Amino acid sequence: MSLAKPFNKVDKRVSVTTLQQKKEKGESIVALTAYDYPTAIAVDTAGIDLILVGDSLGMVVLGYDTTIPVTMNEMVHHCKAVARGTNRAFLVGDMPFLSYQVDMAEAVRNAGRFLAEGGMSGVKLEGGREMAASVRGIVRAGIPVMGHIGLTPQSVHQLGGYQAQGRTALAARELLLDALALEKSGCFSIVLESVPAQVAQLISERLLVPTIGIGAGLGCDGQVLVSHDLLGMYDRFTPRFVKQYADLRGQIVKAVERYSADVRQHKFPASEHTLSIADSEWKLLLEGLDSDPIQ
Ligand code: KIV
Repeated sequence: MSLAKPFNKVDKRVSVTTLQQKKEKGESIVALTAYDYPTAIAVDTAGIDLILVGDSLGMVVLGYDTTIPVTMNEMVHHCKAVARGTNRAFLVGDMPFLSYQVDMAEAVRNAGRFLAEGGMSGVKLEGGREMAASVRGIVRAGIPVMGHIGLTPQSVHQLGGYQAQGRTALAARELLLDALALEKSGCFSIVLESVPAQVAQLISERLLVPTIGIGAGLGCDGQVLVSHDLLGMYDRFTPRFVKQYADLRGQIVKAVERYSADVRQHKFPASEHTLSIADSEWKLLLEGLDSDPIQ
């Protein structure tokens, strides 16, 4: 009998309390996106604190130009796969465009789907003070909410592109007010995207809950990246704030080129990749076909 711990029965899950304690102890929170079962296993095994099933999957996995077309059903589908591959990280599902902006009842119902169907522990939504009432409603339903301010990709057309936010005194003050309102509404954490490092640090210091930065400098309480950017799997656009830790797309292309060459040169499958029938059975088959040929 194997003494190995069965998958899904190991480490204690990271919770909102663990994340809050990390801020209080000054320990950086490590977050990353994942969208599928194998990546979720790898990321969870590496000891990430928080996995975000981001609506960035619309761009990096589904090939849309923006995150705007992503639907609730697509999000829930990917959340389920990620949940099946993890047993440690805190899991956050990203609420897609129009799943929470229309009215509060719909926002609460959609947020609930992430937990009930998707296996997530919390949800993330984009926006500041204008989202405060929805955040309160979702939190009242017992669902942890992560805020997201600064560059909010679902508003790309309103923002006029994917550019840094909070770069004037006025804009930075607005961001701080948004962050404070989200915290007051019950957010357990807030993502700060593409915000000057000084502004992100000031917001992080003024908030009790942890901030998670992406393109927001070292002064945040944690960091998140899109896994496909970190792993070199997305070819269309790499923001300046991304550090690429691997070139998996390059490795995949090379592996597929080697496979293609092997197939074309009849080197694959080799004998070790080939199944065979026992000689006695083979003989029996041929004798049978001789005496009773199949037309
Ligand atoms: O969708 C996403 O992956 C995100 C992160 C970039 C924070 O919102």
